[in-house]
Amino acid sequence: MIKFTSVTEKNDLDRIETMAEVIWHEHYTPIIGKEQVVYMLDKFQSTDSMKVQIENGYTYIMITKNEDPIGYLAYEKRQNALFLSKIYLLKNERGKGFGRLAMNHIFESAKGKGCSSVQLTVNRFNQNSISAYQRIGFEKRGEVVQDIGNGFVMDDYIMEKSLM
Ligand SMILES: CC(C)(COP(=O)(O)OP(=O)(O)OC[C@H]1O[C@@H](n2cnc3c(N)ncnc32)[C@H](O)[C@@H]1OP(=O)(O)O)[C@@H](O)C(=O)NCCC(=O)NCCS
Repeated sequence: MIKFTSVTEKNDLDRIETMAEVIWHEHYTPIIGKEQVVYMLDKFQSTDSMKVQIENGYTYIMITKNEDPIGYLAYEKRQNALFLSKIYLLKNERGKGFGRLAMNHIFESAKGKGCSSVQLTVNRFNQNSISAYQRIGFEKRGEVVQDIGNGFVMDDYIMEKSLM
């Protein structure tokens, strides 16, 4: 059984930090290189950095299957849109429909918060995820390059799914 649970406690965030290390090294090293992965994990997915994000309005959700963690999400409301900042599943849990289930959960949360769309950014070379998002109904709306310090940038597409 798949469950989505909002988390704030240190031990849950520690579990997300551990999952993020596994997923990001495996998934992003071929796309952005090891150095940027290490930098971004520390900046965005350490327990301490996630605590600060939560204090500033982010929601972190642990995804569990029969009580075992299999992935996580993070989002925040930005005006009339829900901005989906993170959606990650462990490799052996992808391609089984759980991403779509997670998106349905996000769409319901967004509607509950009065949002008219869900927006996200995705690395321009993260093709499998872009294809999954398109299949789920997201459309490309533009491109954005964000300077994240230390000489690194995030080179992304902006994608959006209307909930209207
Ligand atoms: C992106 C991600 C969350 C999607 O979750 P998933 O469980 O693999 O996706 P699902 O199995 O639910 O697939 C959702 C839909 O997309 C389709 N899809 C998935 N991958 C696809 C691909 N490479 N090409 C075309 N369609 C694809 C599926 O067929 C499904 O469509 P359907 O329900 O109509 O059959 C997951 O693959 C993941 O964690 N990827 C690695 C991390 C990552 O890149 N995260 C996003 C960062 S922005």
